[in-house]
Amino acid sequence: MIPLAELHCHLEGAAGPALVRRLAARNGVLLPATIFAGEARFAFADFADFLRVYDLAAGCIRAPEDYYDVTLAYLAACAGEGAVYVELMSSPDHAAAAGMTYADHLEGIVAAIAEARRAHGIVGRVIVTCVRHFGPERAVEVARQAVADPHSLVVGFGMGGDESAYSAADFAPAFQLAHDAGLPCTVHAGEFGGPESVRAALAALPVSRLGHGVRAVEDPELVRMLVDRGVTLEVCPTSNVATGVYGGYGEHPFRALRDAGCRVTLNSDDPPYFGTTIGREYRLAADEFGLSDAALAGVTRTAITAGFADAATKAGLLARLDAWTET
Ligand code: ADE
Ligand code: ZN
Repeated sequence: MIPLAELHCHLEGAAGPALVRRLAARNGVLLPATIFAGEARFAFADFADFLRVYDLAAGCIRAPEDYYDVTLAYLAACAGEGAVYVELMSSPDHAAAAGMTYADHLEGIVAAIAEARRAHGIVGRVIVTCVRHFGPERAVEVARQAVADPHSLVVGFGMGGDESAYSAADFAPAFQLAHDAGLPCTVHAGEFGGPESVRAALAALPVSRLGHGVRAVEDPELVRMLVDRGVTLEVCPTSNVATGVYGGYGEHPFRALRDAGCRVTLNSDDPPYFGTTIGREYRLAADEFGLSDAALAGVTRTAITAGFADAATKAGLLARLDAWTET
């Protein structure tokens, strides 16, 4: 099995319907049945509805032990598919909305990352992530929390949410705070927004990676800039198809971006919302985009190299990848 690595998975979006139902029962939360589509998927009409369903499901994660269960279940599933490294985006804003402090939410996550390493050999790390449509002030507060309460497993700062809200420059104070404290940064851009959104993010924010970034493909000069700067794209093909950014895998620019020299990785984004897993993303990159096993191992190498873990951890992961490549 090819070692897999993932840089872009929203932790609150990694809990599947069965676990969300269990957490809802444990915490006395009543959920509308309409948010579920069978046992394994959530139901939503469009991206705005996705965010609504996502917030309802995330609202069932109410205690450190809930974060523990969500994190451990996800990392164990990834390890079962051959993943060696996963960066999880956690949202202190969602934790706060569910009544948890920053410290509470981190407590469960880091305990589960330790247990996943012990039991399954998978290395997990956390990217503390703010939500764009919650606004620049909340973003600064999230960055402040990450900086004020540092943890060795919290290795980066990021932003998701509605890309059309505010301008990238509005979030410069939050990103600068994180960056100046030594946290590398990534931002969702070029998912729903076009090349101008990617340019704005790169101009205003100290980021070495982009969440998605795929719509940069519409501007060849911008693609050259991504290549020249060595920006890594956290590409989430099934997410993009599920949210309607592309009509199907045949229209997806993963291959075009890779062929142009961009550093591309494969990611699941919000697996049970989009009906995917990191293993499935690698399989479809082989089946739909024609990547060989060697090319897929190269994607893993890119992900580890662009990962925000410390150098020793990355060296250990690359050694595991090399050991597989040599067999
Ligand atoms: N938050 C969770 N999933 C997201 C996505 N695909 N885009 C933006 N924000 C998100
Ligand atoms: Zn995302």
